[in-house]
Amino acid sequence: MRHIPVLVEEVVESLQLRSGMIIVDCTLGDGGHSERILQKIQPNGVLIGIDADIVSLDRAKKNLDKYDSKKIFINENFVNLEQILQKNKINKADGILMDFGWSSPQFSERGRGFSFNLDEVLDMRYDAKNDGKTAKDIVNNYSEKDLEILLRKYGEEKNSKRIALEIVKKRKTKEIVTTNDLVEIVMKINKKGKAKIHPATRVFQAIRMEVNNELEVIKKVLPDAVESLSVGGRLAIITFHSLEDSIVKHYFKSQSDKSIKIINKKPITGSVEELQNNPRSRSAKLRVVEKI
Ligand SMILES: C[S@@+](CC[C@H](N)C(=O)[O-])C[C@H]1O[C@@H](n2cnc3c(N)ncnc32)[C@H](O)[C@@H]1O
Repeated sequence: MRHIPVLVEEVVESLQLRSGMIIVDCTLGDGGHSERILQKIQPNGVLIGIDADIVSLDRAKKNLDKYDSKKIFINENFVNLEQILQKNKINKADGILMDFGWSSPQFSERGRGFSFNLDEVLDMRYDAKNDGKTAKDIVNNYSEKDLEILLRKYGEEKNSKRIALEIVKKRKTKEIVTTNDLVEIVMKINKKGKAKIHPATRVFQAIRMEVNNELEVIKKVLPDAVESLSVGGRLAIITFHSLEDSIVKHYFKSQSDKSIKIINKKPITGSVEELQNNPRSRSAKLRVVEKI
């Protein structure tokens, strides 16, 4: 299954794509946005596609093979954006796109434990070859207090205290290894009830954000992204979480009329049709700025 990109035409319009542009897609995924980007910048444009996940990168390469423009694929964390561009002799970019989070095949086909619906080992790293912490490390080693804080902060989980206690109780008897182990623990506290979302949604989200240090990398990359743009170049960012959006919004505000001009005061959201057809678009927010 190929990832369905969100807000594609809105991104194309916001980046003011034209033939010959140099565009960086920091979160290549399955290459859905990049495909539209390539259609607009060909034949002489350059696409730099970055993804921390080598499997995503390889899939995108295949999906984008038919386009003639120059394509540079990089398997790295976008937090290293400045060094990546330097290494590849890209002085400034005309446009940069970031579309945070996971792609659908990562969630459902990669065996990394992102989904509470599949029984897999708790991993949740986008970059499965780095030796950073996994979801399994977090649930088995974080203190009860740290677990509570992370579930509350990243998951806005109202039962964070009770779930943290339950995790610590469980791991005293047996290591927590799989997604099912974790779902079982969470569902002792969060009963199925009438809620529209799965009772473990917020817990899984919080742990994934911690594993990949998601908010910290966003904070770090924003100034580097602005610095990497040519004057008149645009930065388009799609977020799916209120904390992500808040970081982007506040950074843009703090730099407004200094290094950037804010293009849309309110975030762009999906059309009624997109919201109906692609559930993932329901929480998507697009913010765009221009380098001055
Ligand atoms: C929402 S998907 C992008 C989908 C893509 N726009 C498309 O149209 O198919 C996000 C992608 O970003 C990657 N990713 C997440 N955090 C990253 C990071 N810090 N550095 C590099 N890639 C990252 C994930 O591996 C995933 O493939």
